[in-house]
Amino acid sequence: MIELFDIKKSFGAQRVLQGISLTIPKGKTTVVLGRSGCGKSVLLKVILRLLSLDEGKIVIGGVDTSNFSESEMMPIRRKIGMLFQGAALFDSMTVWQNVAFPLIEHSKLSIEEINRRVISLLEFVELPGVEDKLPGALSGGMKKRVALARALVAQPEYIFYDEPTTGLDPITASKINLLIKKTQREYGTTSVVVTHDMVSAFTVGDFFAFMHDGKIAFKGNSRGVLTSDVAELQDFIADAAPKEILQQFLDGR
Ligand SMILES: Nc1ncnc2c1ncn2[C@@H]1O[C@H](COP(=O)(O)OP(=O)(O)OP(=O)(O)O)[C@@H](O)[C@H]1O
Ligand SMILES: [Mg+2]
Repeated sequence: MIELFDIKKSFGAQRVLQGISLTIPKGKTTVVLGRSGCGKSVLLKVILRLLSLDEGKIVIGGVDTSNFSESEMMPIRRKIGMLFQGAALFDSMTVWQNVAFPLIEHSKLSIEEINRRVISLLEFVELPGVEDKLPGALSGGMKKRVALARALVAQPEYIFYDEPTTGLDPITASKINLLIKKTQREYGTTSVVVTHDMVSAFTVGDFFAFMHDGKIAFKGNSRGVLTSDVAELQDFIADAAPKEILQQFLDGR
């Protein structure tokens, strides 16, 4: 479980997170919705402390990390796999090297064991046989799947997915959604998915939070998302897809 209490983060005069409080329950998928620029990626980076925390409290698996130093954060970060917005693979490394990287850096596993894990994860993300390719030779959807394999390789307790389907065609996006669900089922990870893709959100999410003006303006389940009286959330949904279609989608799930 991850608990956020009144998280604040500014860049100079720009106040991005203005008091985010949210509980991310264990073994479930929590979706964070919000308009472009509202601070979703910043929130994930602050939890990982890739960005500093100005104010508030962050508790990860019962450990208060709010005042942790860089070195104290290292073991916490290893528990969290992150699928960065835009995949963020190392372009000069092969797929094998990219996926193996967290283990080569941080584990004492033998090269045989690392290889076994890399190969089995590439099968899991349905990309067998691409280990010697460079990222430049892969499509956007393939890169996301390689990034997912890399996020999973150290067997993290938590996975953060930042816009996993943005920029993908609907069929590729639905493959990624299915992989997120399969990861959830097979590894039982506690997941946070940041997205503005409502179909993706409703496919993978157990709980939903909507960010607006630096705060959580709504939290609840999928039905609650459609019936909430938060005007900004209703506008956000209306821009994504007609409500009837989302309702039918939910009914048919
Ligand atoms: N390292 C940084 N330094 C200064 N400003 C930043 C930094 N990172 C993010 N910001 C600013 O914080 C705001 C929130 O950015 P963020 O990337 O979290 O948005 P987002 O909700 O993830 O948007 P999107 O849906 O487009 O990915 C933006 O105005 C952005 O310019
Ligand atoms: Mg973002």
